[in-house]
Amino acid sequence: MQFSTRVTPNPAKIKTGCIVVGVYSGRRLSPEAEALDRTSRGAITKLLQQGDLNGKLGTALLHHQPSRISAERLLMVGLGKNKTLSRADFQKLARTIGNKLSNCQAKSASLLIESISVDATTNQQCAAQLVRALLTSTYRFNELKSKPKGTSKGPGRVAFCISQRDQVNTIRKGVRLGEAIGKGMKLSKDLANRPGNICTPTHLADEAEALAEKLPVKTSILDEAQMEELGMGALLSVSRGSRQPAKLIVMEYQGGDKDAAPVALVGKGLTFDAGGISLKPAASMDEMKYDMCGGATVFGVLKAAAEQKLGVNLVGIVPSSENLPDGQANKPGDIVTSLSGQTIEILNTDAEGRLILCDALTYVERFNPAIVIDIATLTGACMVALGKHASGLFSNDDKLAEDLLAAGERSGDRVWRLPVWPEYDAQLKSRFADIANIGGRYAGAVTAACFLGRFTGSYRWAHLDIAGTAWNSGILKGATGRPVPLLMEYLTQYIADQKAA
Ligand code: BES
Ligand code: MN
Ligand code: ZN
Repeated sequence: MQFSTRVTPNPAKIKTGCIVVGVYSGRRLSPEAEALDRTSRGAITKLLQQGDLNGKLGTALLHHQPSRISAERLLMVGLGKNKTLSRADFQKLARTIGNKLSNCQAKSASLLIESISVDATTNQQCAAQLVRALLTSTYRFNELKSKPKGTSKGPGRVAFCISQRDQVNTIRKGVRLGEAIGKGMKLSKDLANRPGNICTPTHLADEAEALAEKLPVKTSILDEAQMEELGMGALLSVSRGSRQPAKLIVMEYQGGDKDAAPVALVGKGLTFDAGGISLKPAASMDEMKYDMCGGATVFGVLKAAAEQKLGVNLVGIVPSSENLPDGQANKPGDIVTSLSGQTIEILNTDAEGRLILCDALTYVERFNPAIVIDIATLTGACMVALGKHASGLFSNDDKLAEDLLAAGERSGDRVWRLPVWPEYDAQLKSRFADIANIGGRYAGAVTAACFLGRFTGSYRWAHLDIAGTAWNSGILKGATGRPVPLLMEYLTQYIADQKAA
C-alpha cells in the first residue's frame, strides 16, 4: 500500500477507486461531504435521503458510480454525534474505514477527512493511526498456502486529500510514522504466525541476522555453548528437553547520542510451549506457537525504530527456546542455578517463560540500560484478569509505569497496571532453593512478575504480560502485532522528554 498527501481543490473531480467522506449522526454532512455535495450538485444529500446511513459511529455505506462524482465508488462513514471524537471513537472509525476498503475491489482510495478533530490528538497522530489501521486491516498471512486466494487485499494506493497546504508536511510525517509502525507490526505478526516447525530459535536468529543486513541494526547471537560458559542455567534447563538449540539473540540500534544509555527491550521467544513434563492439555495447544510474541515485538520495534530513524539507542534481547517433554527435560522438583547466582526450584515446568527471561534480564545489565522493558506471553492468569483488551503492566518505577499507561491511551494499545508487592513475592518461597518458579493458585500474573522482579533490582524496569493481547483466537486467529504501537508511542515520548531535559 502506497500513501500520498496532496492538496485537492475540487473533490468531485478526484479520479479514484473510492472516495471517502464522513457524515455525523442525524445525517449532518462533514465539511468535506458538504463540499463534495456542492460540487456534485447535491449527490450526497440525495443518497442520504434514502435513509441507509444515519451517521452512527462504526457504520458506513458504500455506493457505486455516484452521480456527478468522478470516483468509481463513494464510501460514506459515520462520525457519530460529537464534533470532536474521543480517541477510542477515532480508532473505531479508522478500523471501519480499513475494513470497508479492504473488502471492496477499489484499486485506489482518496480520504477526505481533514476536518475531523480528535480529543488530545494531533493531525500527525491521526494520520499515523489511520495508516496503521489500513495496514492492519489488509494484512493476511498467506505465505504457507500453496494457492493463496487472490492477490493482496485492499487498495494499492491511498491518498490523503486536504485543502490546507500548511498541513501537508504534518500529514506526511504522520503517514511515515504510521508506515514504520505498520512495517514493524507486519514483521512481528509474520514471525508469530509462522508455526513452530518453521519458526524455531534458529529461525529467529536467522531473521535477526537478516534484519541487520537491511537496516542499521547490529545483531549478535549467543549459542548454547556460550550461554553455558556464562552460566545461564535457568534458560538452558528449558531448552535441554528440545532438539532445537536455544539462542540468545541480541539486536542493537544506535539512533541516539553515542554514549546515551539505551532503552532495553527483552522479549520472551518461546517458539513452542507444550508445557514440558507438566504437559499442557491438547485443546488449543497449537496457539502456543504464539509464545514467542514478546520476542516478535522486540523484532517489530527494532524494525520500526530503524525505519523511522528514531533518535534513541535500543538494545533488543530475545531469549529463544522450545519447551517440550523429553527424557532430558526439566522435571518438577529440579533445581537450577540462574546467571544471577540465585537457585530456582522448578515446581512446574510449564512456568518456563520466567526461566528463560530471568537469565536474559541479568544479561542485559551489561548494557547499562536506562530502562528495561520485558514483553512476554507469560501467564494465562493475566488473560483471566484483564481479558484481551489490555496488556498487564508491572513496574518497580512509578514514572515509567505512568508513561507506559499514557502511551497506551494515546496509541489505543492499552495496558493496565497490577502490583508487585512483597506480600505477593512471598508466595514464591521455596523450601529447597532461593526461589520457586510458581507462586500458587492466586494472582498468577502478579507472582510471575514478582519472580522477574527478583532479577531486575539494579535498573528501572517494567514488565508487559501480553498473553491476552498478542493474538486472537477463533475465526480471526492470528497475531495482532501488539504491543509494537504502544512501545513506539512510548519511545517517541521518551525521546521528546530527553530533548526537553
Ligand atoms: N505461555 C504460557 C502462558 C500462556 C498460557 C499464555 C495461555 C497465553 C495463553 C506460560 O508459559 C505458562 O504456561 N504459564 C503457566 C504458568 C503456571 C504454570 C504457573 C500458566 O499460565 O498456566
Ligand atoms: Mn508454559
Ligand atoms: Zn510459555
